[in-house]
Amino acid sequence: MLDKKVTELLNQQINKEFYSAYFYLDIANYYESMNLDGFANWFKIQAQEERDHAMLMYQYLHNNNAKVTLDAVSKPEKVFSDKVSPLKATLEHEIFVTSLINSIYSAAFEKKDFRTMQFLDWFVKEQGEEEKSAMDLIAKMRVLGDGANSLYQLNSELGARTYNPPSLAL
Ligand code: FEO
Repeated sequence: MLDKKVTELLNQQINKEFYSAYFYLDIANYYESMNLDGFANWFKIQAQEERDHAMLMYQYLHNNNAKVTLDAVSKPEKVFSDKVSPLKATLEHEIFVTSLINSIYSAAFEKKDFRTMQFLDWFVKEQGEEEKSAMDLIAKMRVLGDGANSLYQLNSELGARTYNPPSLAL
């Protein structure tokens, strides 16, 4: 039986992960409208990964006989002024998500809920990777600039990203 508080936080996190998926889909939508299909591809895959995160939490709760409640997903409200601002918003968002994962981890730690801590270990590592990939994108854009040639180059690179489902066994 999972602790009430830990269950509640995981339940809320399902919603946040679906929001993340929606947030990244909105960024893909922005790049799509700029005819940057490679950038859009990268963010559509990011959205798929966020949905996976939500589903892992959903399944973990069900596997532990906990009740799952699905809430409304908020509307992504960010308006992007230039091509680099979605990348900065991505880093900002991932730092926020890391803090949420850490809070759930802290609650599990407090309750000596080693099972949930072990489940969350994957997410702790994943957050490190997600922050790094956002920082890498910003750095590349900074180095290459946002002129036509560099955008073309970066767009081709991001267009090559492929979706890999998470390798986390529940
Ligand atoms: Fe589900 Fe991007 O963290």
